[in-house]
Amino acid sequence: MLTIDEAFRKFKSRLELNDREQANASARQKEVRDYLDTKFKIDRSFLTGSYARWTKTKPLKDVDIFFVLKSSEDHYRSKAPSVVLTDFHNALVEKYGDKARKQNRSINVDFGVKADAEDNTDYRVISVDVVPAFDKDDDFEIPDNELGKWIGTNPQTHAAEATAAHQAYSNEWKGLVRMVKYWNNNPKHGEKPVKPSFLIEVMAMQCLYGGWGGSFDREIQGFFATLAARIFDEWPDPAGLGPPISNGMDTARKTRARDLLLAAEREATLAIDHVRRGRNGQALRAWRELFGPKFPLS
Ligand SMILES: Nc1ncnc2c1ncn2[C@@H]1O[C@H](COP(=O)(O)OP(=O)(O)OP(=O)(O)O)[C@@H](O)[C@H]1O
Ligand SMILES: [Mg+2]
Repeated sequence: MLTIDEAFRKFKSRLELNDREQANASARQKEVRDYLDTKFKIDRSFLTGSYARWTKTKPLKDVDIFFVLKSSEDHYRSKAPSVVLTDFHNALVEKYGDKARKQNRSINVDFGVKADAEDNTDYRVISVDVVPAFDKDDDFEIPDNELGKWIGTNPQTHAAEATAAHQAYSNEWKGLVRMVKYWNNNPKHGEKPVKPSFLIEVMAMQCLYGGWGGSFDREIQGFFATLAARIFDEWPDPAGLGPPISNGMDTARKTRARDLLLAAEREATLAIDHVRRGRNGQALRAWRELFGPKFPLS
């Protein structure tokens, strides 16, 4: 029978990006770029967000693509963020119809790919988030519709901080982040416990501390406990540019997140206890129940 350590390693690798997925993401980037080039003056585009940092979980959904506009499009910057978002939305609707949806900082384009019961998509990306962006010194400005203003961001800084955290954690940090983001995406919760899921990664920069202890189950148990304990804290943008990442939830939503994180910690404790009592099969089932179908039973 699979040991718990083997099961976690398999789980970790199932949540890793593979070559076919990357080829599909690049093809979708090119497809959207080729189309948007006919509508806007685009300087460059790149895959970014958690996808580019290897902290995206499965199934691959809402892969962020920045479309950095040329200075000839600077007229947008003096207008409300909703203007550029509406223009991008209208353009994408012409090609993708109602599969293009306007969001707060991006346009989501859904490719109609469905995940199966095992959360597999035949290595295809379900959707991308098209983010209009402008260069601002070494950073970027992106529209925020709810705030009604342009916000600063720097994906390179976020990536560098994630890499530093990963290395300080014996290269296990990104795997743990992907696992808890997978838990967060589990449809059993209804709405995601933690919103945005980027907050899990930002919190992990401080909540996974003291170094890798050597066992996945204990790391995950402790991670859930610390996330629950600190979900009411304010979590600023790690690059110091945009609004706090913790602004995505009001008090009621944070209370719900705290309760679900505590429940997850209790489930982890029970799973660990099963192993102590020699009930390996029950432990595997408990972890699968906690995380979802990508956690292996064999
Ligand atoms: N409040 C913010 N201020 C500055 N930059 C932000 C802020 N929120 C998000 N970002 C940047 O935009 C990127 C995309 O945001 P998004 O919410 O999609 O997070 P993500 O890390 O890609 O997580 P997910 O896996 O859920 O897509 C983030 O990775 C981060 O680099
Ligand atoms: Mg994203």
